[in-house]
Amino acid sequence: MFILRTPAEMRAWSRSQRFATETIGFVPTMGALHGGHAELIRLSASENTQTVVSIFVNPAQFNVRSDFEKYPRTFEADIAIAQDAGATAIYAPTSDSMYPVGYRTYVEPGMAADPMEGEGRPGHFKGVATVVVKLVNAVQPHRAYFGRKDFQQLAVVNETVTALDMDVTIVGVPTVREPDGLALSSRNVRLSHQARAQAPVIYQALTAAREAYKQGERSRTKLESIARDVLQTAVDANVEYVTECNAVTLLSTDLASENSVMCIACWFDDVRLIDNIALS
Ligand code: PAF
Repeated sequence: MFILRTPAEMRAWSRSQRFATETIGFVPTMGALHGGHAELIRLSASENTQTVVSIFVNPAQFNVRSDFEKYPRTFEADIAIAQDAGATAIYAPTSDSMYPVGYRTYVEPGMAADPMEGEGRPGHFKGVATVVVKLVNAVQPHRAYFGRKDFQQLAVVNETVTALDMDVTIVGVPTVREPDGLALSSRNVRLSHQARAQAPVIYQALTAAREAYKQGERSRTKLESIARDVLQTAVDANVEYVTECNAVTLLSTDLASENSVMCIACWFDDVRLIDNIALS
């Protein structure tokens, strides 16, 4: 397993792989790897001859400093999970090599960044778009893999690589869930016992909206309130948003359509969970 620590080291490795006609798959992460990441790595390993996993807790995408500090850091375990799933290299850049003192160059994301997470977490997607461009520039992958759980992030990344004419194929990978429906997330380990027991309500709310859509309900406000009603059955759920939007434009219209996605952000104590589901 190769461990690369700077953009220059990473680029040199990738250049030699490309010279040897290897194909490079890339799975960007902030570490704290779980089964969802393993799925991305396995898919990459099945579609490419080399798979790079980046592990970098990106300070630029946290608008709350304490959230950045509390983010779980489990480097040794991450390497084992990545290797097991088929990764051939780890890119774990140092903070200094990513954001040296005085750093001030950022990518301004497009309209996909505006609603939902963009409203609640100002600057978050600017940090994500910036780090993804920097990571992709260093790794030089043929394909990069992102989970659909972070549906809006995937839309922002797609919009960014298109806008900046980047030579990489973005692959969206279906959400991996616990048997009770809770989407796998690095934040789940921070849920209290009581919150963990209630958190599957998010998926129940999403599936209730999807069921209503299947039964013919098209009103956005009705679909959103169906999901909200389910969330309210969990005493500790503190709902931030329940939003139906178009999968491509991320805009909400009065009537849901076959391209609609229902998105939820919900807090349990100080843990913020997000999830989404395609309605059709
Ligand atoms: O989804 C994540 O883990 C992060 O937002 C990403 C894409 C690795 C950028 O830091």
